[in-house]
Amino acid sequence: MAVPAKVAERIMVALDYAEAGQARQLVEALQGIPCYMKVGMQLFYSAGPQFVLSLKEQGYKVFLDLKMHDIPNTVKGGSESVTRLGVDMFNVHAAGGKQMLEAAMEGVDKAISGSSHSLAKPIVIGVTQLTSTNQKVMNEEIGIEGSVEAAVLRYARLAQSAGLGGVVASPLEVVQIKEACGSDFVTVTPGIRPAGADIGDQSRVLTPAEAFAQGTDFIVIGRPITATQDPRSALESIIASIK
Ligand code: C5P
Repeated sequence: MAVPAKVAERIMVALDYAEAGQARQLVEALQGIPCYMKVGMQLFYSAGPQFVLSLKEQGYKVFLDLKMHDIPNTVKGGSESVTRLGVDMFNVHAAGGKQMLEAAMEGVDKAISGSSHSLAKPIVIGVTQLTSTNQKVMNEEIGIEGSVEAAVLRYARLAQSAGLGGVVASPLEVVQIKEACGSDFVTVTPGIRPAGADIGDQSRVLTPAEAFAQGTDFIVIGRPITATQDPRSALESIIASIK
């Protein structure tokens, strides 16, 4: 895919808020910066499709991060609905298996072929291993053997074989994913912390500049922007640190 050249367009701001009002305040504070907006389950479950539509009306690219994982027929329906909303990207868990991933792609095609107005085809992204998961948790609690990197690569190949456009992974895994799946296979990497920032519940992290140096297409940043007094300055200094 053609990756947007400008740095800001490759930064996804995670609007992890409980209410539309708080998220709207952040969007206003960042006005004029052409970043990608990421709507996750906290905001979507409270503010719903309306909030996504309002971001689209303001011209933002939107990543709807709902991490679908269900039986294929249900995921197909969910994918059809979110494609109709006009999102630019959404994700499904690669752990749902190939049939479920293919069903997600069928949902996208159904929405697009059934739409009376022109709908852009969203990039569908597979969730590999959450960036909060370390090897001990993956082995002992989730029950997947081997290294996190091996599991991530297996999921990336599976997602690609089902027709997805890319994966969510740690920035530490980007080089191997691009080697295995090709440079056009999109990587979206959370687990980003500017130097000295609080890691919180993330486990496999890099700085924004380090993540782009690994060759990632998009970085996702939440709390280092949203939990500060001055989110605009936080985002501007992240952008400056990359240039
Ligand atoms: O606040 P922080 O920068 O840790 O936020 C990271 C964001 O990326 C959150 O919205 C989280 O849900 C999301 N995410 C993640 N790991 C994934 C997929 C999404 O942290 N594998």
